[in-house]
Amino acid sequence: MKVRILASADEVADAAVREVAAAIRLNPSLVLGLPTGRTPLRLYDRLVAWERAGRVSFARVTTFNLDEFIGLPAGDPGSYRAFMERHLFGRLRQRPHRINFLDGNAADLDAELERYDRALSRAGGIDLQLLGLGTNGHVGFNEPGATLNTHSHRVRLHNKTRAANADLFEGNVRRVPREALTVGMSTIMCANRALMLATGRGKAPAVAAMVQGPLTTRLPASFLQLHRDAVGLFDTAAAAGLQ
Ligand code: GLP
Repeated sequence: MKVRILASADEVADAAVREVAAAIRLNPSLVLGLPTGRTPLRLYDRLVAWERAGRVSFARVTTFNLDEFIGLPAGDPGSYRAFMERHLFGRLRQRPHRINFLDGNAADLDAELERYDRALSRAGGIDLQLLGLGTNGHVGFNEPGATLNTHSHRVRLHNKTRAANADLFEGNVRRVPREALTVGMSTIMCANRALMLATGRGKAPAVAAMVQGPLTTRLPASFLQLHRDAVGLFDTAAAAGLQ
């Protein structure tokens, strides 16, 4: 994994927006993998500003979000779909050509997971995958465990992960769903390029383990060490544990 350490979270977002815009200019029909979380918010603000200023266009871009909670009613403000509308899609002059989400409210979740993987393969996989990092080393909702999953799957969220998502539910961790759907590790590992963003002290142990620790299912992001083109953009606080 290549690493770039930048002075601040703003500089991480500046570097990331340049990367994304350059990738779209090179391939206007880019297939872009998107995360939620606090980390990409600065990037999404910049993407909106650049799009409104005519510096980048999503008109032909296809997006796939990484994950979604199970069982939230359509339009629930805590859902990742609502998050993306609030922070990115709903603010653009022109929305991406195709926006894909896992539907955590589908009647048949197994069929929904298969549908998503089929849509991903029909799109030819992800060209550029943006990623955030869980403090426990999760990517998307691929949580640490004895095994990892190749394909999109259903996952029981760790308590730490639910706590980290409580902000979406007015700080009430009990309202955070216990289960979610997520793309599998192969979607992330087979992306042509993966851009991992991490900022703040709280991420330092997970960043160090991801970049320099052993490959382990106990820290799913460690597998990015094997990715053909993974780049970590970290601020100095998140990079503090790196040798
Ligand atoms: C969430 C998401 C992940 C995200 C991670 C980090 O649980 N499912 O895709 O990368 O947590 O979140 P944050 O950026 O808020 O630290």
